[in-house]
Amino acid sequence: MEFEKAWLSYRRNPQLAMRWSTNSVYSNFQGAIARNAVQELQAAAQEILGYPMTETHCQEEAGVLLLLDENQEVGKEGYEICQKGEQLLITSAGEAGILYGVFHLARELQCGRTMKNSCIRKTPDSPLRMLNHWDNMDGSIERGYSGESFFFENNQVVVNDRTRAYARLAASVGINGVVINNVNVKDRATWLIDEVFQKELKEMSDIFSSYGIRLFLSLNFAAPMEFGGLESADPCKEEVKIWWKEKMKELCTRLPNLGGFLVKADSEGRPGPFTYGRTHADGANMLAEAVKPYDGLIIWRCFVYNCQQDWRDRKTDRARSGYDNFKPLDGQFLDNVILQVKNGPMDFQVREPVSPLFGGMEHTNEMLEVQIAQEYTGQQRHVCYLIPMFKEILGFHTHCSENLDTVEDIVTGRTMRNHNCGMAAVANTGNDENWTGHDLAAANFYGFGRLSFDASLSAEEIAQEWIRCTFGQDEEVLEKIEKILMMSWPAYEKYTSPLGIGWMVNPNYHYGPNVDGYEYDRWGTYHRADHLGLGVDRSHNGTGYAQQYLEPNTSMYDAIETCPEELLLFFHYIPYTYELKSGKTLIQHIYDTHFEGAEDVEEMAAIWDSLKGKVPEKVFLRVQKRLGHQKDHSKEWRDQINSYFYRKSMIPDNKNRAIY
Ligand code: GCU
Repeated sequence: MEFEKAWLSYRRNPQLAMRWSTNSVYSNFQGAIARNAVQELQAAAQEILGYPMTETHCQEEAGVLLLLDENQEVGKEGYEICQKGEQLLITSAGEAGILYGVFHLARELQCGRTMKNSCIRKTPDSPLRMLNHWDNMDGSIERGYSGESFFFENNQVVVNDRTRAYARLAASVGINGVVINNVNVKDRATWLIDEVFQKELKEMSDIFSSYGIRLFLSLNFAAPMEFGGLESADPCKEEVKIWWKEKMKELCTRLPNLGGFLVKADSEGRPGPFTYGRTHADGANMLAEAVKPYDGLIIWRCFVYNCQQDWRDRKTDRARSGYDNFKPLDGQFLDNVILQVKNGPMDFQVREPVSPLFGGMEHTNEMLEVQIAQEYTGQQRHVCYLIPMFKEILGFHTHCSENLDTVEDIVTGRTMRNHNCGMAAVANTGNDENWTGHDLAAANFYGFGRLSFDASLSAEEIAQEWIRCTFGQDEEVLEKIEKILMMSWPAYEKYTSPLGIGWMVNPNYHYGPNVDGYEYDRWGTYHRADHLGLGVDRSHNGTGYAQQYLEPNTSMYDAIETCPEELLLFFHYIPYTYELKSGKTLIQHIYDTHFEGAEDVEEMAAIWDSLKGKVPEKVFLRVQKRLGHQKDHSKEWRDQINSYFYRKSMIPDNKNRAIY
């Protein structure tokens, strides 16, 4: 299948070429990453400036110097780019840092800047910057909206040109770890740790490694039974421990670039230590011991809840479960275990509070998991730029200490001075020509990487970079696409479920409105609407979820008056007649935001239409088509939500608009 270059599609810039006089590169190191760094620089120079950048072995005569310097303070993944005399020096203590420096320079060139006379230093904020692919070995992708997998096909591992192209894209935004298979490890994927797949995995891993990316696999906790022939997978049993130790020895010796494993255990039907009366710490530590000799990591997911709930039961609260399961284990995990926590306590809804596990676990390595696959945010048919949401999450104060208490502080290792931490995103790529189905969804892939590398960037800055790199330097294009991106998440929130309540989608697919779709189901996802009001009481009077936060957050969420309004229905049951800070009643707010959201989509589509001839025709048409669908679909959302709540409350819209 053909594929495009996304934000690495370099454009010729003759004016820039006139201001750039350098045409030779020197590097003082020889590894595979160095080769790629030199080649990336050569490709950018050739394509943007229009002339070859030749490699020279004479340091004095080179225009660009790529210098590995063990003493460089920016560390192995950081870099310094400085002009010294006529030479531009890119230095780092590690090869990966040099590669990131080269991509930085390429980005600057793409944006029309030469970096002459500049001196900048960058060190990545998050130590681990990972993509989690939910790709299955049959080639399908769980929650994939951009075609099929480019890692697997017909139960085989695929390694081809696209593998390298993917690694380039990922490395160019600073990704340093990739989990290639779905967290739900079933069928053939259980065997990925077996010898039969090692040849292809080694090839893939070598490509990744040459771009500074470590390969990770998702594991099946029951592998000792399912293909090891043991009778149990009990993490405390000697034979199970030995089995894993041998397996890991085999695997890690054959794949030296293997970073470790991601594990979904005791969650949504996946096996785990609970079967044997053991804890998550028992399970994670057993695996961590097995990979420790190879510097491996065990990334253990905290997405654990009762998915067999009775909707009549108002005491059990899915939102509570992550904290209830893991908080008692704080301090019990080995140092090479990282708990991977979804940003919110439910499941990647358009609006959720930050998981109380951030700040709640004082002695445990943690990673933030977000989802750029837009499972609940329009499935890459709707445009929904998620970086503003991620910025809010990172900026959340947990109050776990006086300073350094934000989610960003925790996942960057500033709070606990740890290095086994970072950010992971459920990936949004597939084998579609443009990688992400919706062309504008590539901004989420790009943005996630850039944000995990440099958390100080604003959502707007990231959008601007991505637009310039993808579409070139036309200021009108920049302004208009940035406007669409920045409008998109608020718009999506307006026309879907109100004020943090979430869900209201069609079960299973999670696409399109269905207010009661999950109301009488077993998944713990309820809105509790009746004729007087809606929302889930999670205060001390209700499920007590608000009590899982540290003060003053508990008090803030616990009281209706102080609860941030965008989360009001997540934390409280509110009458339709309740007056919000805007002076509007809850029901009028629901009507108004739904009309507004659908109007916003009209506006975004009109802005896009005005870009005809300014962006490549193919891209223009692809995005136009999706925005056309989004216009219709946002109206469907608007009308179903408004009609549902009108019929429940029988309170008319004070503007008398059409509600059915
Ligand atoms: C969601 C999603 C599943 C996924 C799960 C997970 O529930 O719908 O497809 O497996 O999250 O994160 O493990």
